[in-house]
Amino acid sequence: MRKPADNMEIFSRRRRLLAEKAKGAAIVIPSHPEMIRNNDVHHPYRQDTNLFYLTGWEEPESVFVFRPGQTPETVMFVRAKDMERETWDGFRYGPEGCEREFRIDKTYLINDFDKEIADLLKSTDRVYYRFGIDKEFDAKFLSSLETVRRAHGRSGRGNMPLLDSWELIGELRAIKTADDLELMRRAGKVTAQAHIDVMKATKPGVTEKQLLGVFLGSIYRQNADREGYGSIVASGANACTLHYTFNDQTCRDGDLLLIDAGAEVRYYTGDITRTYPVNGKFTAPQRKVYDRVLEIQKELCATSKPGVLFKSLQDRTIDFLTDAMIDLKLIKVSRSEAIERLLFKKYYPHGVSHYLGMDVHDTGLYQTATASDGAQALQSRKLEPGIAFTIEPGLYIPADDKDAPEELRGIGIRIEDDVVVTATGIENLTIDAPKEVADLESLLR
Ligand code: GLY
Ligand code: MN
Ligand code: MN
Repeated sequence: MRKPADNMEIFSRRRRLLAEKAKGAAIVIPSHPEMIRNNDVHHPYRQDTNLFYLTGWEEPESVFVFRPGQTPETVMFVRAKDMERETWDGFRYGPEGCEREFRIDKTYLINDFDKEIADLLKSTDRVYYRFGIDKEFDAKFLSSLETVRRAHGRSGRGNMPLLDSWELIGELRAIKTADDLELMRRAGKVTAQAHIDVMKATKPGVTEKQLLGVFLGSIYRQNADREGYGSIVASGANACTLHYTFNDQTCRDGDLLLIDAGAEVRYYTGDITRTYPVNGKFTAPQRKVYDRVLEIQKELCATSKPGVLFKSLQDRTIDFLTDAMIDLKLIKVSRSEAIERLLFKKYYPHGVSHYLGMDVHDTGLYQTATASDGAQALQSRKLEPGIAFTIEPGLYIPADDKDAPEELRGIGIRIEDDVVVTATGIENLTIDAPKEVADLESLLR
């Protein structure tokens, strides 16, 4: 495990924001479980996003308990120091190291969780916890709540209110602070540079896996921590498989390459997609599709600003791309009929955007209740400063689509940037990755 983050203040500032929303409560967050890959090999470990967000702590087998306004306010259960295990698996901070380096008020050994947790919860008036991430820990946690209730004796009181921490912390994470944005800008820049490096390595005969290697080499050279999600390196008709992750084909002369990949920097990820010709020159049919996707992508970048309904991005994209499908002779009915019958979904089956941050599909509410009707009448959220999201329209024409003009079959195009809402519009975090035809062709040449 690495040394603690250079600036532990980031984590205290985030905890202060959370404390304002959760006075009197306790928030309990276990570390992410370790996952077996095969036999006795584990997947590389990545901490639970919320736990890292609030503490910077990256060791498994830990639990963070946050009790805003109480003493101790921050409590962490961690693994013991163990020279033998550390010889095999690497350094552990142990309770003292965690307290000192991560500025945690009080630490305990993880093996003492059952013994200590009831005491820590009994003076709080509600508990926030997220079920479903670690089933084994869920059971342990439920039984600790039972212990708290029993400790009240014959008081007639029931269990204390148990609430989902997902929304509480998710909404905090949804509005990016200056600290968050600094990291997101870095993730955007590193990701854009890696896409440029892949463009330079793209040529007929290169394999998708070799290009993935170029991407990974570039992000690690730039000190990224890892990919933010499984990279998609899809040449030709593979681009029409939205979650194509085999990445095991050879790029052919005349095909397009679609690459959707992002670098993770201090748990913030970029998420860029670019599509361009393997041989450096778009064909006329490829241009016809590319230009339409680029046009709506740029329009959404230009019109997104505070007050715009999040849902309107998708509505506008469907209108625009359905018109494009009609012009391209993919659909032979009117726009309204194509939308009514969801015919556009054959060529544009996904959403145009999602929130972006520490998780590639980041937390945050997409809908809010109207003041008058409460939760019964949810409406799309409006964009507000600090919300970060992707803009990623696409058109995908299956290779075996007999309804499509032959020259368009097997063309799959997506163009994706990462943006954050400012006071008056958006800041494009991935502007460095070329997407104009002339820029792509000159770089690829
Ligand atoms: N790369 C995942 C996405 O674009 O949603
Ligand atoms: Mn995306
Ligand atoms: Mn993507």
